[in-house]
Amino acid sequence: MRPLTAKQRAFCREYVKDENRRQAAISAGYREEAASERGGKLLDDPRIQELILKLRSAQVPPDDMSLDGHLRAMSALRDKLEDAGDCVIAQGWEDYSDLDHAIWRRLFERQSKLLPGRACAEYLAGLDGLGVAAEGIPDFERLSDILERATGWRIVAVPGLVPDDVFFTHLAARRFPATNWIRRPEQMDYLQEPDVFHDVFGHVPVLMNPVFADYMAAYGRGGLKALALGALPKLARLYWYTVEFGLMRTPEGLRIYGSGIVSSHGESLYCLDDPKPDRILFDLLRVMRTTYRIDDYQDCYFVIDSFEQLFEATRPDFAPYYEVLARLPDIASGELLAEDRLFDA
Ligand SMILES: [Fe+2]
Repeated sequence: MRPLTAKQRAFCREYVKDENRRQAAISAGYREEAASERGGKLLDDPRIQELILKLRSAQVPPDDMSLDGHLRAMSALRDKLEDAGDCVIAQGWEDYSDLDHAIWRRLFERQSKLLPGRACAEYLAGLDGLGVAAEGIPDFERLSDILERATGWRIVAVPGLVPDDVFFTHLAARRFPATNWIRRPEQMDYLQEPDVFHDVFGHVPVLMNPVFADYMAAYGRGGLKALALGALPKLARLYWYTVEFGLMRTPEGLRIYGSGIVSSHGESLYCLDDPKPDRILFDLLRVMRTTYRIDDYQDCYFVIDSFEQLFEATRPDFAPYYEVLARLPDIASGELLAEDRLFDA
C-alpha cells in the first residue's frame, strides 16, 4: 500500500483535533490537493480513515500546551503515527508549487531584511555561506552538499514531528531532520508545527558553524541518554532555550541565534526590543528547571556569551544533574530568582 504523503498526514493530524481545526484543515486545501493527486475524495481513502482512527484513539490532548502535554502528544504520535525506521522521506522538491516557492520568497525577503544587526554573526555567516536564497525553497541535497563540506552535517526530509529516539539518532549522526511542507499564506505569522522555512532558514545556517555543529551532535547523544534515564523533559528545555530561542551577548549588543526566533518576524523584534521578557544569563541547571510556552512569544530568554561557552557548559555527563534536578522544583517561565543574573544592555 502506498504510504501517505506528508500533506495527507498533516491533514489527518489537523482533522482529528477539533471541529474548528477540521474545517480549517479542509479549507486550507489539504482535501482538494490530496484528492486531486488521487482523483478521489480524501476522506474516502481507507488509509486516511485508518490513520484518523489511530490518532483519535491515541487521545492526544491537542490543546494542552504545557510541556508535558506537548511531550505526551509527541510520544503518542510516535506510537501511533510512525511507520518505523529512520522516518526519512524524499523532499519532493519538484512537487513544490509556484505558491509554495512564493511563500518562501516572502518569508525569506522579510527576514533577511530584518536580521542584520539582530542575528549573531555566526548565523548570518552561515546563511551567506549556504547560499540559501530568495528564489525559493532550497533543494535539501544541494544544501546538504555545502553543509557537509563545512561541518559534516546533512539535511534529511521527514514528515513533520518524528519520534524522540529517531530525532536524537539523526542529530547524533549529524543529520538534521527537516520537514518538507511549507505554511499556507494565512499562516505567515503563526504556526503550531515547524515548516520547511523554520527548519531550513532557522536551523541550518548555525549548523555551518563548527562549534554549534558539534553542540547539536552532542545534544543528540545526550538526548538518547536522557530518554534512557527518563529525563527528557529536562533536557528538552535546554534545546528550547538554546537551539530554538537562544540569545547571545556580543560586543555589538544582544543578538539572536535561536531558530524559533530568526524564522519569526514578530519574535525577532520582540525578543530584543520589548521590555517584557526576562533576559537571563545562561546557567545550565536554571535552564533545565524552567518551563516554557509553545503558544506565544517567550516570557524569558537565556543569554550565552558564545557557542564555545554553551558547548563547554554542556560537555559533562548530565546524569548527576538529572539527580539534582529531580529534587528541585520547576521554575515557571517569567519567574525570576534572586540569584538570576540578568543581561544588562
Ligand atoms: Fe525548530
